[in-house]
Order: sequence, then structure tokens, then C-alpha cells
Amino acid sequence: MFVTAVLLWLCVWFIILQFKSRRPKNFPPGPPALPVLGNLLHFSPENPLKDFEKLEKSYGDIYSLFMGSKPTVVINGLKAIKEAIVIKGTDFAGRPQDLLVNDVRQRKGLVLADYGSSWKDHRRFALMTLRNFGLGKTSMEDRIKEEIQHTMKTLDSSIGETLSPQVMFHNASSNIICQVLFGKRYEYEDETIKVIVRCFTENAKIANGPWAMLYDSLPVIRNLPLPFRKAFKNFETCQNIVTKLLNEHKKTRVPGEPRDFVDCYLDELAKRGEEEDFSFSEEELVMNSLDLHFAGTDTTSNTLLTGFLYLMNYPHIQERCQQEIDQVLEGKDQPSYEDRHHMPYMQAVIHEVQRVANTVPLSVFHCTTKNTELLGFSIPQGTMIIQNLTSVLKEEGQWKFPHEFNPENFLDEQGEFVKPEAFMPFSAGPRMCLGESLARMELFLIMVTLLRRFKFTWPKDAGEPDFTPVYGITLTPKPYRMKVQLRAEQ
Ligand code: HEM
Ligand SMILES: *[C@@H]1O[C@H](CO)[C@@H](O)[C@H](O)[C@H]1NC(C)=O
Ligand SMILES: *[C@@H]1O[C@H](CO)[C@@H](O)[C@H](O)[C@H]1NC(C)=O
Repeated sequence: MFVTAVLLWLCVWFIILQFKSRRPKNFPPGPPALPVLGNLLHFSPENPLKDFEKLEKSYGDIYSLFMGSKPTVVINGLKAIKEAIVIKGTDFAGRPQDLLVNDVRQRKGLVLADYGSSWKDHRRFALMTLRNFGLGKTSMEDRIKEEIQHTMKTLDSSIGETLSPQVMFHNASSNIICQVLFGKRYEYEDETIKVIVRCFTENAKIANGPWAMLYDSLPVIRNLPLPFRKAFKNFETCQNIVTKLLNEHKKTRVPGEPRDFVDCYLDELAKRGEEEDFSFSEEELVMNSLDLHFAGTDTTSNTLLTGFLYLMNYPHIQERCQQEIDQVLEGKDQPSYEDRHHMPYMQAVIHEVQRVANTVPLSVFHCTTKNTELLGFSIPQGTMIIQNLTSVLKEEGQWKFPHEFNPENFLDEQGEFVKPEAFMPFSAGPRMCLGESLARMELFLIMVTLLRRFKFTWPKDAGEPDFTPVYGITLTPKPYRMKVQLRAEQ
């Protein structure tokens, strides 16, 4: 009796889901989808990018698939992406909800928050706080420069030798964002940051894996004690760490004299906490801090890793950067961010590094906030949207040299720096990366300071360099070693 009931229930449920997997009217074309799993079996977990390539070849710039039972539209090319996320920005500014990652974060925070007033308030606040960091005693630029001194020490102790730069760059970008958020840097060996990094790495693996797919497709299993529970536990660990930091701040802060992001947020909470519909809270502060740390660490450090990989293997480009740096910084102690206006070549190199690094190839998934249209197709509210940034960063017709590493992509005939419209490693529109200004300042100051003092070469015994990135949430170069020499000694 019980078994029959279960079977019957399963049948009904499959039929409902099958119904759900049908494409809506005038929806973009795509491969046929199974019930429940949708098109998930099309993709290999190791490198789904290859499988997407086949779909793009068969269906063109815009096609649809089912991630589980979630209807999804993939958009390629500048024209289509711009129409969606810039021209119809608010129609496309949502984030999918109801996935494992949303539940793990209790639907709070910034990066995965749906379009709405809480996201708007927090985004506006974070942008403002990251921009006018002058309101603390130490500017953003000074915080970055201080961290660079530690990186320089690491390099100084490796002169004449080779070193593996992964930890060093990860260290630097994590410490910079910790400085901004919590007013202090963390020794890499320090437990605090180690635990946060470990939990996030594990959770990224879980989120990319089969258990997350099952969680997203089969709501009935969500409360069972299956491996995805670990993600919730990891996240709680992070939450507890940041809550502790928050409590320390509450004890030591002086209202109106913020030392960092957390203090600024607490000031805002004190000022406006009584207002109706005000979305700020201490729990949101914890989630926002974790989001900013997560969003700002791997992205920046992977871009730096890509940069030095290419600069070592294109020595003439490295030398030309160094000539420009020497010339512009002559007699100066340290570079400042202002100097970029006199360094068109360096600027072009940094942008070209970002273009080839393609750090977040599919951006962060969006979701439509209402029924809308794109290139003549109808896209209902709640459709998941994947924007393929690779297709823009390497689009033929948008770049002088789409398929090679060449700073000329960002230089005009006079050697002046120009930024083509298709440069969108930070995405574009209302959801565009909120850390862009911080990231650009970091990339400039770190690369210029390091290149001024050191020469970086590809070790002789390292074999041919492999530029193919490793796939993850962000793309990262294969681990490599670099040889460090002092320039002055040559
Ligand atoms: C080179 C470094 C970086 C790259 C390539 C990058 C790229 C991106 C991309 C592609 C998105 C998704 C935009 C969209 O959904 O359309 C994003 C979102 C975001 N990034 Fe970055 N990012 C970088 C550095 C940073 C840094 C340093 C921070 C922190 C201060 C940061 C904070 C964020 C946040 C909070 C969002 C979510 C914005 C929202 O949902 O409204 N990013 N980033
Ligand atoms: C994104 O674009 C690149 C380059 O056009 C292509 O190789 C890749 O398959 C595309 N990915 C998706 C998800 O469509
Ligand atoms: C990471 O940063 C810490 C703190 O400055 C430092 O002690 C450690 O040596 C760094 N590690 C590397 C590989 O740069």
C-alpha cells in the first residue's frame, strides 16, 4: 500500500516536472531536456566550458537549456549581452534564488541577493564606502601600499631563486580586503583567515558538484542528512568568526570615527536603524563582509597570477613596461595611483591581462525580474541568465588581436590608452562588479611596484609554459614558478 502510494506520487511528480521542462512560447531554442535533470547530463563536471562550446556552435548567440528544472538562457556576444544587462538592465538584474548557495547563505548578503531594496541599499552603501575610504584615517591607497611592502619582502628573500607565487598573491589580495573590512591584516598562518579560506574552497567545490545539482533539482531531499549539509556547517563557521570580529568592533569603536567597513556599517545602522523598511542588520553586515572578502580575493589574485605568467613569457612587453615605469617614476619614492594617467602602455598591459585572464568567464548568474524580450525572443520572469563574458572578451570584430596576448588591443595609433566597449571582465549594467575601483587600484599598484624593482623570468627548467587555465568558479593559471632577480643588478 505504502509502496504504491509512493510510486504513484513519484509518477505525478515526474509528469509535473516534465511539464515544467517544456520551453515557454517563443523561448530561445536549445537541446531537448529530460524531466528533473533537464540538460545537466550534457555537462561534464570537470570542464563544462567545452560542452557549452558545442551548444553555442549549434544554436548561436542565444540559446536555452534546463539546469535541473530551471529554465536558463545563455547569451553570447557584445550586442546581445549589452542589450540584456545594460540597455534592459533592470529586467535582467535579478539573481536566481532557491538554489543550494542561496539557502546556505540564508538569503542574505550582496552577491547573490535578488533585485530589490535590500540589495540596492547594501550595494549603494558598499560602493560609497569603498570609494570614499578617505573617511577613515587611512586611505584605500595607503592600505594597498602597506600590503605591497609585505609582498616585496617575500620577493626580496627569493632573489636569485624561483618561487611559487600562488600563496603570495592570494595572501596580498586577502589581506587588502581584510584591511578594508576589518581594519587589520591577517598573517596568512593565522587561523582566522585560514579557516575562512578553507570553508570557502570546500563550499565552492560542493556548489560545483553533483550534490548541489541534486539539491537544486529535488526539493524533497533538502532536509535529509546528505553531503551538502557540510556546506551549511562551513558557512556557519565563517559566520561565527566574523561575528566575533564584529563584537570586538562594537566594543572598541568610536561612533562617527570609522576605522573600516564594519565601523561605517555600524554607524549607518545607528543612524538609520529606526527607519521603516531599513534593511541593514548585524546579520547582514556579517554576510556582506563575507561576500566582499570572497568576491575580492580569488578574482584579484588570479588576475595577478595570469599577469605575471604572461609577462615572464613575453619579456619584451615586461621590459617596455619597466622603461615606462622608470621614466614616469624617476626620482619618486613610490608609485601612486595617479601615475596611471602618464602610463598608457602599463594601462594597456593591465587591461590586456584582464582580457586574457577572463577571470569570471560566465560572470555571476543573473535572473529576469519580469517578463521581457531579447533579440526577438520572449523571456519570462524568473529565467536564469548566463552571460558569456568570454564571448565578448575574445569576440572577433571587437579586438585588433582577439586571440593573442597583445597590449595593442588597448592602444591607438598615437600610443594612447583606449578602452574598447567589449572590455567587460567586470561585467556591466546595474549588477556590474562593485569592487572594480578597488581591484583596478590593486592591479596597478602591485604590478607597477613589483616590476620597478624586479625582473621576472620563466625558469629554464620549467619546460614550455601552459597558458590553458584551470576551470573553477574563477579561471586560474596552472601552478607555476617564477624566477626573481633584482633589476638594478643586471
Ligand atoms: C580583477 C578582479 C575582479 C573581477 C574580474 C571581478 C569580476 C566580477 C564579475 C564578473 C561580477 C559579476 C557581475 C554581474 O553579475 O554581472 C562581479 C560581481 C561582484 N564583485 Fe567583483 N571582480 C573583481 C574584484 C572584486 C573585488 C576586489 C571586490 C570587493 C571589493 C568585488 C566585489 C564584487 C561584488 C560585491 C559583486 C556582486 C555585485 C552585485 O551583485 O551587485 N569584486 N565581480
Ligand atoms: C562562450 O564563448 C566562447 C567563445 O565564443 C565559447 O567558446 C564558449 O563555448 C561559450 N560558452 C558558453 C557557455 O556559451
Ligand atoms: C603571507 O603573508 C604573511 C603575513 O605577512 C607572511 O608572513 C607570509 O610569509 C606570506 N606568505 C607568502 C608566501 O607570501
